[in-house]
Amino acid sequence: MSPFLITRTLPEDATDAALRTDVLKGLTSTPKTLPPKWFYDAHGSELFEKITELPEYYPTRAEREILIDRAGDIAAATGARTLVELGSGSSEKTRHLIDALTGLHTYVPVDVSESALTQAGEALVQERPGLDVHALIADFTAGMELPDTPGPRLVAFLGGTIGNLLPVERAAFLASVRALLSPGDALLLGTDLVKDERVLVEAYDDAAGVTAAFNKNVLTVIDRELGADFDPDVFEHVARWDADHEWIEMRLRSRTAHTVKVPALDLAVDFAAGEEMRTEVSAKFREEGVRAELSAAGLDLAHWWTDGEGRFALSLSVAR
Ligand code: AVJ
Repeated sequence: MSPFLITRTLPEDATDAALRTDVLKGLTSTPKTLPPKWFYDAHGSELFEKITELPEYYPTRAEREILIDRAGDIAAATGARTLVELGSGSSEKTRHLIDALTGLHTYVPVDVSESALTQAGEALVQERPGLDVHALIADFTAGMELPDTPGPRLVAFLGGTIGNLLPVERAAFLASVRALLSPGDALLLGTDLVKDERVLVEAYDDAAGVTAAFNKNVLTVIDRELGADFDPDVFEHVARWDADHEWIEMRLRSRTAHTVKVPALDLAVDFAAGEEMRTEVSAKFREEGVRAELSAAGLDLAHWWTDGEGRFALSLSVAR
C-alpha cells in the first residue's frame, strides 16, 4: 500500500450545495447570519495564517507552547498508533505531536480542503518514512467514518475551533467524535479560555485590520461563488464580547441602507443602515464547563494543560 492515500467522502459538489443552503438560510433569517466555515477559501486561509502571527492573536502561540511542552506526556498517556486530526489544515502544530508519538502507525488528517491535505500529507511521508498517511476529504461536523487502522486511537481537534460551534452543535459534535472511539481511546481538544475582555476583543479586532479583512472575505466568497453583489467596503468589522454566553461575536455592520442581489439563489436582501449580521461565534471556555461537556459525550477528562499565562488549554479525555 502506498504510504500516502487520500479518500474523498464528500461529493465534489457538496461544498457548493452547502454554501447555497447556508447563505439562503442565513440571509433570510432575523437577525441575519453567515456560518464561519465560508471564510476559508484560498485568500481567507492566507488571511487566517496572517492572523495567527499578529501580536494580538495569542491562541495559536499559546497552543503551540502547550503542544511543545506536553507532546511527550500526550504520547505516554495515549500510546496512540493512529492519530486522527480534525480540521488539519497545514498540520503545522501537529508535527510536534507526530514526532513525540514514537509508536505511531497511521496519521489521518481530515479537512475539507484537498490542496491542504495533499501538501501536508506528501511532506509528512517524506519526513517520516514508515508512517502511513491516509487523508480524508470530509466535513467533520457531518459525521464520518474512519479507515480501519490500528488502535489506540487519538483524535485531535486543535486551534480552539470547537468554539465556532454553538452549544447544541458542540454536544452533537462531541458525541460524533466519541462514536469514532473505542473505550480507552482519547481526544485531544484545544480550547481558548475566558479572560480579560480587552485582550479578547483585541484578538478579534487587531490594529492592522487583518481580522477585518478576514471577516469581509466571506462576502467576496459569496460574490464569486453565487454571483452576489456584496460590496465589502459598505460593511464594517465588529468584534464584541458576549459576557452571558462567554463568546466573541464577529459581525458585519452595514453602513447604509441598501439591497444585495444573490442571483444564484434568486434572492434580493435588504440591509438597514447600521444592521449587523453575525459571521462568527468564538466561544471561550472554563475547565469545569469543558469537563461537563466532555462527560456528557462519554469522555472523561484526564489532563488539563494550559500555557504559562493560562490563556489557552489543551485537554486530554478518554472514552468510557
Ligand atoms: C480558527 C476558529 C480558531 O475562532 O479564533 C480568528 C478563527 N476568527 N480570528 C478563532 C478566527 C477570527 C479562529 N479559529
